[in-house]
Amino acid sequence: MQALKPIPPHIVNLADHEAAAREALDDNAWAYFAGGAADELTLRANVSAWQGLQLLPRVLQPLQAGHSQVQLLGRTLAHPVLLAPVAYQRMAHPDGELATALAAAAQGAGLVLSTQASTPLEDVAHAYHRMASDPASDSPGPLWFQLYLQPRRDTTLQLLARAEAAGFEAIVLTVDAPVHGARDRERRAGFRLPPGIRAVNLPATDSCSTTPPGDASTIGGLLQHSPTWADVRWLVQTTRLPVLLKGILHPDDARQALDVGVAGVIVSNHGGRTLDTCLPTAHALPAVAQAVGAHMAVLADGGIRRGTDVFKALDMGAHAVLVGKPYVYGLAHAGAVGVAHVIRLLRDEFDIALALCGCASPADIRPAHLVSEKQYPPTSNAIHSHLKYSNQPSACTPLNPHHRAPSAAQLSQ
Ligand SMILES: Cc1cc2nc3c(=O)[nH]c(=O)nc-3n(C[C@H](O)[C@H](O)[C@H](O)COP(=O)(O)O)c2cc1C
Repeated sequence: MQALKPIPPHIVNLADHEAAAREALDDNAWAYFAGGAADELTLRANVSAWQGLQLLPRVLQPLQAGHSQVQLLGRTLAHPVLLAPVAYQRMAHPDGELATALAAAAQGAGLVLSTQASTPLEDVAHAYHRMASDPASDSPGPLWFQLYLQPRRDTTLQLLARAEAAGFEAIVLTVDAPVHGARDRERRAGFRLPPGIRAVNLPATDSCSTTPPGDASTIGGLLQHSPTWADVRWLVQTTRLPVLLKGILHPDDARQALDVGVAGVIVSNHGGRTLDTCLPTAHALPAVAQAVGAHMAVLADGGIRRGTDVFKALDMGAHAVLVGKPYVYGLAHAGAVGVAHVIRLLRDEFDIALALCGCASPADIRPAHLVSEKQYPPTSNAIHSHLKYSNQPSACTPLNPHHRAPSAAQLSQ
């Protein structure tokens, strides 16, 4: 591991980490880590969709004994922020996924390791568990393994067996990337994986390990291996670990996931890196949460950059959230300390948002804390339509009036 450096005092939020990462990374790595698909409209919309939701705080609430703990798949987490799977982290920093694992465990954040990690999955699990058992660490979050189904079923089975043996607690099957997105930014930069960086947990001959992430020319080949619901059923029956699906936007897909025995869904559009112009996750989340949130874990990622975004996601029915780019930016310029700082900033901002909205804990978050920019204050048009259609929601009705914060019993299935 490289020597740890303190974070410069001018870095006070996630945007500051992004700027520092831009300085630290070369154009090749920057195109990969910062880029999205095509015109990057979804990449930007993910961020602005959270920003466009406005909070309606309550005052004079009892905040004593407040905390940010949440329940997820039978576990109590210190806070609701997990680190999303991000491939090839040794391209961002020589310590790569090991630094990320140490930081996540120290900060009590769950970690989802990518199939395309550039560090052996056993080493990452070992680092995570060692740090999590340190008395100075926060109570540990879950360690999950993200799976891309492999062209050969025996490769998938070997990956599953290794992940189970190493102590990963769930399998996250990514379903929104049967092919690479059209990555204009990567193609312009002539993106190539640097020598020595590869998906080390996959056989070198496997297409997923050798295909450069920006290469969309392999569509025909990759489509032959794109997962279907039959594969999800097979996976649920094959692994002894709970399975979550990552990349769900449509409530009907979430319902189908429930039907085939999946333990949770992650509302995600791959951070805007696959299908450009698809729905931002802040807009997709309420319908998915409403459809299945009482029966399975619902998480969301994409564009979460502030503690208030975390609050809004929980308000709209997520049980926890994930961040991708922000922690890789921390990693890029400051290794493990940078990742830990990013998580700490989000946690602190989330705690502040809770208190300022009048919530002693995430369980106190209510739909009434969130209104959309367009709904409040009521305009004369809105009042008119409200009078005309008096059975419709009023101008300042919360966005998801049917959503109720899930009970601990609901989440501990
Ligand atoms: C550089 C990069 C690599 C990624 N690699 C993977 C991956 O290997 N598997 C996966 O399921 N998602 C991958 N993702 C998507 C993230 O898991 C997550 O959905 C997304 O980054 C969330 O959006 P955010 O970056 O705005 O927080 C990657 C994202 C980035 C930025």
